[in-house]
Amino acid sequence: MADIETFKQENRVFAPPAELVKHAAISGMEAYQALNAEFAKDYEGTWARLAKDNLKWHKPFTQTLDESNAPFYKWFADGQVNVSYNCLDVNLENGNADKTAVIFESDDGKVTRVSYRELHQKVCQFANGLKSLGIKKGDRVVIYMPMSVEGVAAMQACARIGATHSVVFGGFSAKSLHERVIDAGAVAVLTADYQVRGGKQLALKSIVDEALAMGGCDTLKHVVVYKRAGAEINWVEGRDLWLSDVLANQSDVCEPEWVDAEHPLFILYTSGSTGKPKGVQHASAGYLLWAVLTMKWTFDIKPDDVYWCTADIGWITGHTYIAYGPLAVGATQIVFEGVPTYPNAGRFWDMVARHKATIFYTAPTAIRSLIKAADADEKVHPKQYDLSSLRILGSVGEPINPEAWMWYYKNVGQEKCPIVDTFWQTETGGHMISPLPGATPQVPGSCTLPLPGITAAIVDETGNDIPNGNGGILVVKRPWPSMIRTIWNDPERFKKSYFPEELGGNIYLAGDGAVRNKETGYFTITGRIDDVLNVSGHRMGTMEIESALVANSIVAEAAVVGKPDETTGESICAFVVLKRPRPTGEEAKQIAKELRDWVAKEIGPIAKPKEIRFGDNLPKTRSGKIMRRLLRVLAKGEAITQDVSTLENPAILDQLKEAQ
Ligand code: WT7
Repeated sequence: MADIETFKQENRVFAPPAELVKHAAISGMEAYQALNAEFAKDYEGTWARLAKDNLKWHKPFTQTLDESNAPFYKWFADGQVNVSYNCLDVNLENGNADKTAVIFESDDGKVTRVSYRELHQKVCQFANGLKSLGIKKGDRVVIYMPMSVEGVAAMQACARIGATHSVVFGGFSAKSLHERVIDAGAVAVLTADYQVRGGKQLALKSIVDEALAMGGCDTLKHVVVYKRAGAEINWVEGRDLWLSDVLANQSDVCEPEWVDAEHPLFILYTSGSTGKPKGVQHASAGYLLWAVLTMKWTFDIKPDDVYWCTADIGWITGHTYIAYGPLAVGATQIVFEGVPTYPNAGRFWDMVARHKATIFYTAPTAIRSLIKAADADEKVHPKQYDLSSLRILGSVGEPINPEAWMWYYKNVGQEKCPIVDTFWQTETGGHMISPLPGATPQVPGSCTLPLPGITAAIVDETGNDIPNGNGGILVVKRPWPSMIRTIWNDPERFKKSYFPEELGGNIYLAGDGAVRNKETGYFTITGRIDDVLNVSGHRMGTMEIESALVANSIVAEAAVVGKPDETTGESICAFVVLKRPRPTGEEAKQIAKELRDWVAKEIGPIAKPKEIRFGDNLPKTRSGKIMRRLLRVLAKGEAITQDVSTLENPAILDQLKEAQ
């Protein structure tokens, strides 16, 4: 499979279909340029216009952008909104009450349809239930739930009462959950007995029990359990409650709690290059505004669309493009509990066909694994399914290699669906750089051009612009409404991580490298420039994994690097020095397995190293710094061309070639 470098030579161009252009929200490049021109002429005024046109304000704002305490920017600060009101009540007022909001499909294929009226009732009941537990505006609530209508309703219910949620992905371990409950100072954890994926029941409640038993969760009062599977679970009297009991007899009317535009809607933890995961804090109005605008611009959402984003609500994609964006524009969306390979690898295509999905948004890693599956078994090839309902495809989470792009375009989109390759991050709240389906000619592997209002640029180490054709650091020059507001509990780290002094202190550092095409100005993301890995679209810090490894009593030292991987984009390769002599043969295999399981316990199964290599030492410079660049070369299995004369013990390089 092609390496990232080949992106630069890509010159195939795919124009959007004329019919789509005709009716698109942003129709043709002229419309895109016109919107850009409006922003260029009056940046704040344009945002103000869009905010007035696209959100319902309880109290209108008078100031658009407050830069007085930069980089802690405020948007629409004296306005008041409620996000849940904008997602639900607005639809009841707009005549969407009986429209299907959610088509939920369970792991075993059971389909439930929920109308906007029903979802509104459910969320109101949920909100009243939370209130009955004493949960109020400003409290933090951790949500550790499976993909479900209840999971979405839980997020909306928090928004309705002004509680700040922090969703933790169901694949994270007890230890990770524990860390997040403490950092957020959560008063409640909303969870389920089990989650059901790929025909298996996976415990959730017992992981919550384990996390809370670790102690120190002094703020926590309640654990609310949604019964998904009904199997026996452990119960802590006085702390644990069934969701059904909390909701029983609750009114399905709940006045929204009006909050200031800047009120924290949620915290979502994500990995950085150093230290513990960061609690990315998002605001209410600015975040929702961008969710709405990108639903309209990037997905060109229309009343008849059946929209499907395959992400999990535990990630930012599931926040913006499942729990909030689609509802705020009154869309019908599919919410899927299961996995793409169960009961077979045709599941996605089968669901698109059965539900007549028109917009399909998934990750390159899923596409690549389904290509493999289709190559191996004709029966699960997309051509076996009627995918004619599709009109727009999307990609998110990592670079999509041109081969996977072409396969997606031909076999899933039948050469008639534009692919929106959306570049963005947990911190950006929504899409930043992406083709517009009814305007932008697409080039495989390029996320093309910034969305209107997004001042993305490429600079050198000192913050100066660099010419197109040269690789550099991706930044955003002006604040935008859906940007991260701070890191929960750590404003200093926020400043250092995203607005570093080296770049002048007032431009946003994305953490990715990028290059713009000389002729078209199109962006191609070349990968992270920090020690952050992207494995199957999951973001992980190398240091986090290293810390997990050295927390094991047999490990003396560990270094983790990313290795290009055909399916997962990158894979985790760990170089480990034990406190005992370097193991070989069966013993090495056994210890590697133990360490993998250990990392799964410490962080979660997604952080398990694919390869572990044992050495008597790690390659270090004379000053004792680990030569990571050398480790990356070793991980790839390439010949070492660097000067290794400074190495204390060059023989270890041979040891580190052997993977377990
Ligand atoms: C990192 C952000 C975007 C929401 C899901 C992941 C990488 C994301 C793309 C893309 C190339 C991409 C970047 C970014 N990334 N989308 N279309 N092309 N790279 O959010 O976990 O915060 O990760 O994912 O490296 O910095 P996240």
